[in-house]
Amino acid sequence: MLSTGFLLLAATASVYGAAVEPRATCATGQTVKNAACCALFPVLQDIQNDMFAGDTCGDAAHAALRVAFHDAIGFSKTQSSFGTGADGSIFLFAEQELTYGANLGIADAFNLEVPFIKKHNISVADFIQFAATISLTKCPGVLQPPFMMGRVDAKAAAPDGTVPEPFQTVDTILARMADAGLTAADTVALLASHSIAGADDVDPDLSGLPFDSTPSVFDTQFFVETQLRGTGFPGSSGNQGEVASGIAGEIRLQSDHLLARDTATACLWQANVNNQAHMAQTFQAAFAKMQNLGQKNLVDCSDVIPAPPSLPASAATAFFPAGLSHADIEQACATTAFPNLSTAPGAAVSLPQIVQAPLTQGDCDDDGEGKFSNFFLRFAN
Ligand code: HEM
Repeated sequence: MLSTGFLLLAATASVYGAAVEPRATCATGQTVKNAACCALFPVLQDIQNDMFAGDTCGDAAHAALRVAFHDAIGFSKTQSSFGTGADGSIFLFAEQELTYGANLGIADAFNLEVPFIKKHNISVADFIQFAATISLTKCPGVLQPPFMMGRVDAKAAAPDGTVPEPFQTVDTILARMADAGLTAADTVALLASHSIAGADDVDPDLSGLPFDSTPSVFDTQFFVETQLRGTGFPGSSGNQGEVASGIAGEIRLQSDHLLARDTATACLWQANVNNQAHMAQTFQAAFAKMQNLGQKNLVDCSDVIPAPPSLPASAATAFFPAGLSHADIEQACATTAFPNLSTAPGAAVSLPQIVQAPLTQGDCDDDGEGKFSNFFLRFAN
């Protein structure tokens, strides 16, 4: 019986081709569906062992994630002059793009990644998106990210104005995202990235200010804490693009504050609160869409991507920070009440700053000034 069943299965598979997929064994020993993906394993090893050495969803991972957005959003469905999307232009034309105000701090990613880009022969565009994908796999709570390869490098810089700014209105931000092909729902989904993030330059005197109380865990606390009534600033007040946050030591972007309260986005925002599966799934889909903006004929290399760490049970449930409760929430979604959560025990403490990764410091200064490598000229031809 057993052998008859086995033969039947094998015959079915060969007749319909359903279970038989072409496989390639790479020189490095791994098996993948598409041989082109083998090129990624040496890059993966370098990124894992050296670029993110010891960085468990910390500053280096955050920098690699942010630059992927700033590169990809240089795209418009209607105006070709806005760039060719996820095309590496942010590094290839760093001497121009890093002078744009919205790219303040992207020099950290340049310093982090360029020494590794130089060692490998994949496009700069692919390296930026691949490094961001690997950065996500450092963060507990992220769903296994897919990855597509084969992006074509830029021939020209993206112009100033393609990257949303924290002091812009919700209408302006959503219009820019829509022009690039991303809906309001995509935008809120993508902003789950701010749950593993912070600001180095919004307050000019303080770096590593977290956007939520758990900046190394991809959990829903960011969506809880941005809905709290603002009570103070981690440093000085009056910085452009910053509003008061609800917790000591935390920084709140004006854009996140407004998106959490605008009628167009408030319910999308609140839907993430204490709904890890929803946040993780919508982010996974929107991020994959963002990573491929402006690019076509890509090869699916998802089988190269390692599994992210799972979310610890202690982080699976959202909470009100110590000393705060439902009464501190500014309800904005008109149709559904903000969920009831328990309050973290103990006294309220000020959040620590995110430790800065040494590899993000280099020749390229935070304001986009400094030495840029002529190495990139060869890509721009
Ligand atoms: C749509 C509107 C967005 C605005 C206005 C915005 C604005 C900002 C600002 C001002 C910072 C702080 C930069 C600094 O001072 O160091 C920041 C950090 C960050 N953003 Fe966004 N962002 C947006 C969307 C996104 C998206 C879509 C992603 C990724 C998919 C992203 C990922 C990050 C990350 C990871 C950081 C932390 C970077 C680090 O710590 O080095 N942001 N964002």
